[in-house]
Amino acid sequence: MISTPSAIIYLSEAVIGTENMKKEKKFSTQCVHAGEAPDLLYGVHTTPIYQTSTFIFDNAQQGAARFAGEEEGYIYARVPPNTPTHVVFVKKIAALEGGETGQTFSSGMAAITAVALSQLEQGDHLLSTNVVYGGTYGLFSSILTRFGIEVSFVDTSDLEKVKKNLRKNTKLIFLETPANPTMIVSDIEEICKMARDIGVLSVVDNTFATPRFQRPLQLGADVVVHSCTKYIGGHADLLGGVVVGKKDFIKSVTSVVNCTGGIMGPHEAWLCIRGLKTLHLRMERHASNAIKVAGFLEAHPKIEWVRYPGLQSHPQYDIAKKQMTGFSGMISFGIKGGIEAGRKLMNGVELCSLAVSLGAVDTLIQHPASMTHANVPVEVKTMTGITDDLVRISVGVEEAEDIISDLDQALANI
Ligand SMILES: Cc1ncc(COP(=O)(O)O)c(C=O)c1O
Repeated sequence: MISTPSAIIYLSEAVIGTENMKKEKKFSTQCVHAGEAPDLLYGVHTTPIYQTSTFIFDNAQQGAARFAGEEEGYIYARVPPNTPTHVVFVKKIAALEGGETGQTFSSGMAAITAVALSQLEQGDHLLSTNVVYGGTYGLFSSILTRFGIEVSFVDTSDLEKVKKNLRKNTKLIFLETPANPTMIVSDIEEICKMARDIGVLSVVDNTFATPRFQRPLQLGADVVVHSCTKYIGGHADLLGGVVVGKKDFIKSVTSVVNCTGGIMGPHEAWLCIRGLKTLHLRMERHASNAIKVAGFLEAHPKIEWVRYPGLQSHPQYDIAKKQMTGFSGMISFGIKGGIEAGRKLMNGVELCSLAVSLGAVDTLIQHPASMTHANVPVEVKTMTGITDDLVRISVGVEEAEDIISDLDQALANI
């Protein structure tokens, strides 16, 4: 019996494979080509969207063999490897991050949840960066703790504090760097070495930097997670998450997602493939725009302070320079006059959109203390620098001059 096209794509060695790309091609070429698998049956140039919930087996024995893990192939779209579209996306992001393989999810939070559930049990300890996305903070502080998992939020920009907060039962270190929204930077290499020396798993949320500017696995991390909703998708039109790491680790994560659900849809996987094809171009433009916007803000009399890892004034500028090859498009700044002045600025912009999320082609501006991090207790916000005057901007790929002129006119009206 003829194999189905999906089986051909999954098993084909004739495609431009991840291994090949990792060894021979530069990052930009990998963005475009890595993982791509032409449909050999019809000669389709781009990866098709395999919009299906289930797959036909050649016979009952094959179905049983796939369920038993004795034969590679597709089963049902919730069951990894999900669909051929997902496989192409996983191969591409794994190549870009320099990892063995990965697993996709319905959102960044679904990805982080699956990582935690696959590794932690009652009595274990999780050490996390103290400034993380609000959803991650909520998961760690309010949900994992209900299941008897101990959680410490630590200023991971300070190596001594990391060392001091490690416990005998520490199983996982979770770093978000640069951190949302304060932009603090943690030394991935040093912390992951510390973790490795005592057999603790290290996980880095690489959403802000993307593999274009930061490759945590090369710096010694075990696992990378992303909210694909941001720079990977790149156009603010999808929700998704992905985890990249060693095959054995990903196996443990896939067994969780297989039971909990929360997988990415085929259309989102396809949008992620398309997004990654221009990741290098978009990130370079985000970063070149962001340094101009950061410079403008730093020089503006109505701005109190600016946090951008590419500015020498950033407290961890040296670490950022050591581990990042560019500084991405995220900036936080404090405005004189606090929240009231911030509201006037956000209400006064015309080109920039007043919206949460980040990593889109258009510039987004928001107020973390009352929006993305509204669930973080006030005392924690105060302690970690998520202050009322902090405004976060995700610099888009428009003309830098136009973004600056929009901010300038809004600031003039405060
Ligand atoms: C750094 C970071 N990680 C994870 C997430 C969660 O991603 P998602 O919204 O796709 O669940 C976000 C969301 O803003 C984020 O900023």
